[in-house]
Amino acid sequence: MVPFESPTGMSREEYAPWGGMRFNEPSLKVEYADGTRAIEWVFEEHGLERSRASQMLWLRFRDRGYPLTVTLYYRIHDGHDVIERWVRLENSGGSGPVTIEQALSADWRPPRRERYRLTYLYGRWGKETQVAQVVLGPGKVVLESRRGATSHQCNPWIALDPEGSATEESGEVWSAALVWSGSWKIVMETTPYGEVHCAGGVNDFDFHYRLDERTQLELPAFVGLYSNKGFGGVSRSWHVYEREQVLPEAPDAVRPVLYNSWEATGFTVNERNQMELAEKAAELGVELFVVDDGWFGARNNDRTGLGDWTVNSEKFPRGLNPLIARVNALGMRFGLWVEPEMVNADSDLYRAHPEWVYHFRDRSRTEGRNQLVLNLAREDVREWVLVTLDILLSEQNIEFIKWDMNRSFGEPGWPDEIGRNPERVWLEHVRNLYGIIDELRRRHPQVAFEACCGGGGRVDLGILARAEQVWTSDNTDALDRLRIQEGFSYAYAPRVMMCWVTDCPNFVTKRTVPLSYRFHVAMAGALGIGGDLSRWTPLEREEARGFIATYKRVRSTIQNGLLYRLRSPRAGGVAAAQYVARDGNEVVVFAWGQSQQFGETEVLLPLCDLEQEAHYADTMSGATYSGAYLAQKGLAMNLVGDFDSRMIHLVRTASAR
Ligand code: GLA
Repeated sequence: MVPFESPTGMSREEYAPWGGMRFNEPSLKVEYADGTRAIEWVFEEHGLERSRASQMLWLRFRDRGYPLTVTLYYRIHDGHDVIERWVRLENSGGSGPVTIEQALSADWRPPRRERYRLTYLYGRWGKETQVAQVVLGPGKVVLESRRGATSHQCNPWIALDPEGSATEESGEVWSAALVWSGSWKIVMETTPYGEVHCAGGVNDFDFHYRLDERTQLELPAFVGLYSNKGFGGVSRSWHVYEREQVLPEAPDAVRPVLYNSWEATGFTVNERNQMELAEKAAELGVELFVVDDGWFGARNNDRTGLGDWTVNSEKFPRGLNPLIARVNALGMRFGLWVEPEMVNADSDLYRAHPEWVYHFRDRSRTEGRNQLVLNLAREDVREWVLVTLDILLSEQNIEFIKWDMNRSFGEPGWPDEIGRNPERVWLEHVRNLYGIIDELRRRHPQVAFEACCGGGGRVDLGILARAEQVWTSDNTDALDRLRIQEGFSYAYAPRVMMCWVTDCPNFVTKRTVPLSYRFHVAMAGALGIGGDLSRWTPLEREEARGFIATYKRVRSTIQNGLLYRLRSPRAGGVAAAQYVARDGNEVVVFAWGQSQQFGETEVLLPLCDLEQEAHYADTMSGATYSGAYLAQKGLAMNLVGDFDSRMIHLVRTASAR
């Protein structure tokens, strides 16, 4: 062996505890109380557990000189090509606390190939889940969030395909996603020996987690799957896994059509304007009416009132109950916006408890959107949030909570805990967030949750285990949305992807597109309306009623079917997507044009996953096609001019003779 080579660096370690001749990204690095900073582990035992529809393997190791045990877990579910991996650390006591400097959840090692291409999702506010692809060369690519939340900037999901060979519907792809809504890190490293490994978990930046004697630390799962059916195959596997194993609702549940008044009334919500909007929303066929920001405290703008969760008596002199009763009488459920992890400096809560926010001694308390972050790791804050929301949900018939989070952490300090591991906030904030939502769900099982973080800053498998849906982006411009929604669909199911139809010109892009186009884009996920209905003309309302009725007929196929991305919006021109019901009996196709060029050849969309021998009838035109025709020749969408769009709904009829 050449002395500068590392035998451990050349081997394919399943989980690499730092120590000895290891120079690649480790999975685990600790410091023991006596100053030793290396792990030497030995295998102890393993177990295999089978429950109704899943199997779990665990492997236990211990440090040969210190009371630290490391248990690696692997779980698979029948019918899914998914492996869930996570780790539990335990300090069984006798040698003082162990400082955990880095503890990732799993290290995935795809088979050795010439070169891998990495696909990931990046963005910013208003431009979430954009698809990026890079070829991995020697060295590391690090994707991460250091913001305390999942982030808009990068989503904890990746896909790797060898030699960039995968296409939308063919080729091998390995994919992985973290079940975590706090700061995270995924490292793709190509070693000098040509091995690619992908280690991920909670971000070690500023981590220093102290594992006291006789305590355990369970890390979030890093889930992986494989498909030989390209990126489309990978996405469909994630969608099915999410519906069947992750989401709190039944796999075949459908999300209601919602109305949210944020873009219509902003902070000037009051009983009268909400009642008016509710009447109009109900006429359109809306099923869930949501009052957004502005209903509480002195919340007349984003500088005041956040944290004071009592109904504003000027806006709602009789409280929320008369509005809720009216909404219910109109046949809709009622939902409410909250942002419980935050506080404005100008609020009664902050005046009473300035020590409740993250801060460092003698450092500025940086504000983002004029707000500070509550230290949810504190027991008193956790309890206060739980009790406040419990009261809110007990005193009113609220059936939906939009849980927002409108800034990243700055100064994540906890001065009272200096010397007692204040850095644990990175973990404890998220765990307490999960704990609060879980407890609220237990006490109020009728309440569904939407996770929001200034749009799509908190979209991950961890929050999806306790939120029926997520707010995809504050950017509701239909053309921009095509790309945001396409990227989103790489990792997450259409059912959880909230999409609103809003007014034009769009408040973000100033673009104006037809109402039909806005509907067709928003119908590609879970449909909502966010426009100011008091300004919609009778004709627009009539059109909207038609789209909502159509959507209700096809939504189970869209929300719970198999998605085929037929044409990417990133390619320009016509974008298209197809959804096939799980039983194959219904097919929904959307095509969204942008701008037609004179003399352009007509776009035909060959469809996927059809029974060649069967016939499919277009429920609107009555035309019938054979599966073979649709697969080979394709469906003509006849788009003309600018921002034209179509939805076609096909129903399988008898098989061809
Ligand atoms: C965030 C959300 C919006 C809206 C506002 C309210 O930006 O993403 O949908 O709820 O907060 O302040």
